[in-house]
Amino acid sequence: MRIILLGVPGAGKGTQAAIISQRLGIPALSTGNILRAAIAAETPLGLQVKDILARGDLVSDDVILPLIKERAEEPDCAPGYILDGVPRTLAQAEGLDALGFGIDACLFFDVPDEAVISRLSGRRTCRGCDKAFHVTGNPPKTADVCDYCDSELYTRPDDELETVQKRLRVFREQTAPLIDYYTERGKLKVVPSGGPVDQVTALVFEALGIS
Ligand code: AP5
Repeated sequence: MRIILLGVPGAGKGTQAAIISQRLGIPALSTGNILRAAIAAETPLGLQVKDILARGDLVSDDVILPLIKERAEEPDCAPGYILDGVPRTLAQAEGLDALGFGIDACLFFDVPDEAVISRLSGRRTCRGCDKAFHVTGNPPKTADVCDYCDSELYTRPDDELETVQKRLRVFREQTAPLIDYYTERGKLKVVPSGGPVDQVTALVFEALGIS
């Protein structure tokens, strides 16, 4: 199964990607995680994109498409994959089609902006494995320590309120057209995502027709 997760920043794409990945046994490919790993390792790619992520802008399509193509060619992707945060522009969606990605479903996580702002202001992200927690909604067992890999949790620089508002604008201008793109191709499934994590997970599997 090849699934796209689409939604505003903080909609819960990464959280649900980890759950779907575990349940279906297919990897979650997150361009955000790939870019943050490159920034942490100070690779040439990381140095190139660091300020772009901090500002809340999108990295260019010419950078993203080869990155995701290379990752999707790895052997663990043979049975399928979950694309978390890609595509994010019409050019990326067309690029994936041209590369033969053959998407089965695009899940659109529909959530009000107010919920997103409170989710992101309390998010703590793992420096080791990029898993997301929330100080009140989904706290780690030990404060500031990842439940999965024991690494330190930190606040992403792009989770500051002003940058979150910019990312929401960028979504509306550059990513929202993908809702029509996948609707027209009969692939879009809307997942109301304002409720708790477990409720959203149930709606995800219902949308995928998996009980
Ligand atoms: P990326 O890392 O993809 O960030 P994003 O899309 O902005 O999404 P987030 O990671 O902020 O949120 P999420 O929807 O995954 O929510 P999460 O599950 O963490 O991209 C970052 C940057 O990289 C971009 O701004 C851009 O610069 C660049 N980039 C990446 N991909 C690109 C591309 N394809 N093209 C160009 N540039 C690209 O949840 C958020 C919080 O809410 C957590 O604290 C979580 O615990 C909590 N939570 C989750 N679900 C619930 C729930 N149901 N109820 C309560 N709390 C919840």
